[in-house]
Amino acid sequence: MTPIYQTSTYVQEAPGKNKGYEYARSQNPTRTALETALAVLENARYGLSFSSGVAATDAVIKLLSPGDEVIASNDLYGGSYRLFSKIFMKFGIKFHFINMHEASHVSEYINDNTKLIWLETPTNPLMNITDIAAVVEIAKPKNILVCVDNTFASPYLQNPLDFGADMVMHSATKYLGGHSDVIQGCLMLNDQELRDKLYFIQKSCGAVPGPQDCFLVLRGIKTLHVRMQRHCENGEKIAYFLRNHPKVEKVYWCGFEDFPNYYVAKKQMRGFGGMMSFTLKDDSAQAAIKVLTTTKIFALAESLGGIESLINHPASMTHASIPREERVKNGLSDSLIRLSIGIEDADDLIEDLNQAIG
Ligand SMILES: Cc1ncc(COP(=O)(O)O)c(C=O)c1O
Repeated sequence: MTPIYQTSTYVQEAPGKNKGYEYARSQNPTRTALETALAVLENARYGLSFSSGVAATDAVIKLLSPGDEVIASNDLYGGSYRLFSKIFMKFGIKFHFINMHEASHVSEYINDNTKLIWLETPTNPLMNITDIAAVVEIAKPKNILVCVDNTFASPYLQNPLDFGADMVMHSATKYLGGHSDVIQGCLMLNDQELRDKLYFIQKSCGAVPGPQDCFLVLRGIKTLHVRMQRHCENGEKIAYFLRNHPKVEKVYWCGFEDFPNYYVAKKQMRGFGGMMSFTLKDDSAQAAIKVLTTTKIFALAESLGGIESLINHPASMTHASIPREERVKNGLSDSLIRLSIGIEDADDLIEDLNQAIG
């Protein structure tokens, strides 16, 4: 097994002559092993591992300068929205949060200052799908970078670089780690100049992961394929169970043939995963809270992608940083319930949801 190099510094042969490693903010052998593995997972030349998914996102935005503009999905992880709108806007970077259901919509927001398109597909929590190749086709001739948050799909189900994206971001906290015991993020990419710029930002700003956490993610990805197969199988069974439940109004799962952009999901993904959201016919917050607090196997908690099933209330938990008006406008209602389907027995999970929905 890869050793955990629990060290902050490395003995050098002579001043200015190191043995490949000098100081652990710059490099660590456990992290190097992980970064090599991460690159392979996304068919990339380079992998960079960060202290969290948000730290990886932060490094991408720091490629930009005041006056630059970013086009981002209007349904995206609340923490990404918070980072963009509350931290970077005040440094003079402009963000357009738009509906990317039709990739061509992006063109309407492009101008000479547009430097980056930030995609999340499927989105958190409404599972909206964006056509990666179609956005790349619009961005490439204008030299606009495309970065895809691939957290929900995982590299097992989708590889955005294969569709021409410049960078892939993961919250490795989720499916890559897989066991809800580590916070970490990563970037995978092919261009060396871009990699060197991002590495410089990381070394200068310091958002590096610890060696123990690198070991945990390395161990997690060894079972990624087996876990993802079960997440997909369970996800499909539960999506259909919910859809047929008389008290359920709407299920957001990108594997339904009548789901918007299903054909795009089918084209760019190898399976539909274990993430989904749903609303109840009784659209009150009380009815949702009853379900959220009465499941016995599904644990009420933030995060996703672990082997244990989780239930979440985006409006008050993961997406509370998005103003209500903005949230509701984009379809994220107060009663929406999000599920991260784990790898437990599917019948047990269905029974649990059935008794909670009542
Ligand atoms: C889609 C998505 N992107 C990014 C993040 C941020 O990752 P982290 O919590 O590792 O900083 C999350 C976390 O929930 C997420 O769900």
